[in-house]
Parts: sequence; structure tokens; C-alpha cells
Amino acid sequence: MAAPDHLARLVRQHAETAQLLGVDFLPKRVDATPSASTPAAARPSTPEPAPMSAPMPSGKPASKPTDEPTNKADLLDQLRARYEADAPHAAFVTDFNSIVFGDGDPDADLMFIGEAPGREEDLQGIPFVGRAGQLLNSMIEAMGLTRQSVYIANVLKTRPPNNATPTKDEATACAPYLFGQISIVRPKAIVTLGLPASQTLLETTEAMGKMRGTWRTFRVPDADLHAPGLIPAGAGGLEIPVMPTYHPAYLLRAYTAENRKKVWSDLQQVMAKLG
Ligand code: URA
Repeated sequence: MAAPDHLARLVRQHAETAQLLGVDFLPKRVDATPSASTPAAARPSTPEPAPMSAPMPSGKPASKPTDEPTNKADLLDQLRARYEADAPHAAFVTDFNSIVFGDGDPDADLMFIGEAPGREEDLQGIPFVGRAGQLLNSMIEAMGLTRQSVYIANVLKTRPPNNATPTKDEATACAPYLFGQISIVRPKAIVTLGLPASQTLLETTEAMGKMRGTWRTFRVPDADLHAPGLIPAGAGGLEIPVMPTYHPAYLLRAYTAENRKKVWSDLQQVMAKLG
């Protein structure tokens, strides 16, 4: 049975989420303590969007492959060192403070992928720490998770001048390192935030409005000709479910109840997938 102060925190969190995302709900019953591994315990009851316990079109909760490497943190460190040596951004961006590689649990079940660091991220060297990052944190907490329990990365690892949207060439040059991160973490599900991340992972030119809210699949490439040696042996061909949703920065710009509800509905699908 959850402690009273925990319940109070949970109710407050859901109330804040309701306000933040414009979703009209409060939990009707809470019968277990939520944790990173049991996000369902923090689920609110709400008739619309679909309840989080509703079966997903793809059936069973996602599961991790069993032949995973155990030293994921080391592998990520090695990949970062390789990125720094290769400097795939060098042809495009030279005026930056930090390489913003990734943040969070190397063994996370859930990975969020954005497009590129902004000003705050460039200063701190950590992804999603500005305004959009604060909203992302709230979204993660609304899912009953913590920022520390997920892994967060971007397509580009350096801030584009004037926060420009990544070009196709930039994304192509840097994507293999992101694919390397994904194949080391091997999350059960990925949330792509916005168009550049969604299009890069899914190799599509579809519009965000069409993609969001529908499960897609990222297939780890067998090898990458642009940057050989980034995909760990055995990871090629691994398929990971991807839920594209709106970027929090877009949500801040277009902060309508409708958009917030759509994002919350997308995240609820992810929570159901994680079981
Ligand atoms: N927007 C992104 O896409 N990534 C960040 O790290 C920050 C803002």
C-alpha cells in the first residue's frame, strides 16, 4: 500500500499534468507504488484518450532481447570518444561550446530523441535542459517515470547556428552515432520528438501530423558506410517500436488543449507498450 505522502504527491503530479497537458483526469484508484519498472501503477483513469491499460495494436508489451551487452555505459563512453574523434559535425558547425551527446540511464527501457541542442544545452552539455527540456521532464514525470530512468539524445550533437533545423546532410552525417547509441541502449521503445528525429529514424518524408500517434519501427542498420564500426556486433536488424510525437518546443509554441491532448495520448500508448 502506498504511503499517504506518496499518494498526495501522485495526486498533485496528476493534477499538474492535467493542467499542463490540458488533460482532464485524476486517478480514481492507486493500489501500488509507481516506479520506473511499473509505470502502470501511476496510471490515471480517463475515458479519453484510450485507457493506458487498453491493449496495443501490436499486442504484447515490448521486451528486451536477451543477448545484450552488460557494460552499456562503457560502450556509450567509447562511442562518444569515437564521435569526438570523427567530429561528423565539423563540416557544418564550428561555433559551439559543448558536444551534447546523451543523458540518462544507459539501460533505459525508454529513449527520447530530439533534433539538436539549443542554447542552454550547448552551455551545459546536457540535452533538453532549456524550456523545452522542462516540458519534456514534466511529460516524463506524467508518465510515472523519472528523467534519470530514461535515455535522451538528439540527432545532432552540436548546436546548429541560430538553432536552425538540421539539414538532410547534417542528419545523414550524424545519424550513425545516434543509431550506435540506440543499439547500445536497446530500449523497448523510442519516442521521437518532432519531424527531424522522426524522419531520420524512420527514413520517411511523411508529415508530423500523419506520423504522430502511430507505432512505427526503427530497424538498426547492419552496418553504416558513412561511419563503419558504430553498430555493435549482433545489433544489426534489431527492431525497436517508435512513437513519433510533437516536439515539446512546438507544444510550447502551439500550446492548445488539442495538441497537449494528442501528445498525452501518444505517451499513454508508450506507457501501455512498456507494460
Ligand atoms: N531541442 C532538442 O531537440 N534537443 C534539445 O536537446 C533541446 C531542445
